[in-house]
Amino acid sequence: ISLKKYNTFGIEAKAKQFAAVHSADDLKVILEENKAQKKFILGGGSNMLLTKDIDALVIHIDLKGKKIIEENDEFVWVESQAGENWHEFVLWTINQNFGGLENMSLIPGNVGTTPVQNIGAYGTEIKDTFVSCEAMTIENQETKTFIKEDCNFGYRESVFKNEAKNQYVITSVVFKLTKCNHKINISYGDITAELTKNDIINPTLKDVSNAVIAIRQSKLPDPKELGNSGSFFKNPILLKSDFEKIHQQFPEMKYFDISDTEVKVPAGWLIEQAGFKGKRFGDAGIHKNQALVLVNYGNATGQEILNVSKNIQETIFKTFGIHIEAEVNVI
Ligand code: EPU
Repeated sequence: ISLKKYNTFGIEAKAKQFAAVHSADDLKVILEENKAQKKFILGGGSNMLLTKDIDALVIHIDLKGKKIIEENDEFVWVESQAGENWHEFVLWTINQNFGGLENMSLIPGNVGTTPVQNIGAYGTEIKDTFVSCEAMTIENQETKTFIKEDCNFGYRESVFKNEAKNQYVITSVVFKLTKCNHKINISYGDITAELTKNDIINPTLKDVSNAVIAIRQSKLPDPKELGNSGSFFKNPILLKSDFEKIHQQFPEMKYFDISDTEVKVPAGWLIEQAGFKGKRFGDAGIHKNQALVLVNYGNATGQEILNVSKNIQETIFKTFGIHIEAEVNVI
């Protein structure tokens, strides 16, 4: 079957076999029955670039359900099954006035894959509210709970991209959210500007969410209209000592201090400066409003997008001496 509608890049690639699972029991059975088969776990398909057909049994994780599992006067613990759409889940929490996820409104993808790359936006990451997730081993169908400390969260990083890679299927995730005294985080310049524009002084969770939605819609292409996977690259983190040498040569280079010894450089800036913003190579291109986002104008192959990404990486390295690493999973 074609995987075109199962990946937000809209890449045409075929799965040798395909099965959607709707419960943890389904998942267990299908894993047991296909022990000898090669398997490929597919969530929301929002963070991958398919460069070839998948010669495996593709298991689409479609477990649904979200609920409150515990609460006290101040906090609520909510659990979502892996196949819930992330943005719908975020709106569900905001509509009940539960705080913590509002800055991550409108991120494409499903809840089950959010811990894998510790998704984040506008000053918040899921590690800030993440409590635990349930996962099943692909090999033996054992279930394991990962608490936050087990996950080794970092910037777009977790244990699931490293030691635990390709070993587990995350089936549900628990977040701890605020019921009152919300920690509204509007430190990110774009959010402040958006709120000011609308004369909002004391923003509610909904106001922050609406501001984030407006910003994202103005910069980031909607995958339903233009295939993409959000930021294609991570923002590179450099040692201050290395950065200072580069900065002398390129004094206008944007950067953010992230610790006493490290700075983060916006890859979007590097890509724009290198002249790639808005460029198109056949059906593969670089988005006109956000240079960090690669797009598929219709019938680009994964290989074509990958070639554009390599061209960008090489040019950035030649120009600035900085290596930018893909954030998207290249298959
Ligand atoms: N910039 C440019 N040109 C561009 C894009 C960005 O010069 O075309 C520079 C500007 O200086 C801008 C700065 O980069 O001020 C930061 O840009 P932006 O606020 O758009 O954020 P980003 O660093 O490019 C990161 C995340 C996004 C997230 C935003 C907001 C990564 C890899 N990406 O992008 O996450 O939405 O911050 O928090 O960290 C994603 O992961 O898929 C994603 C969209």
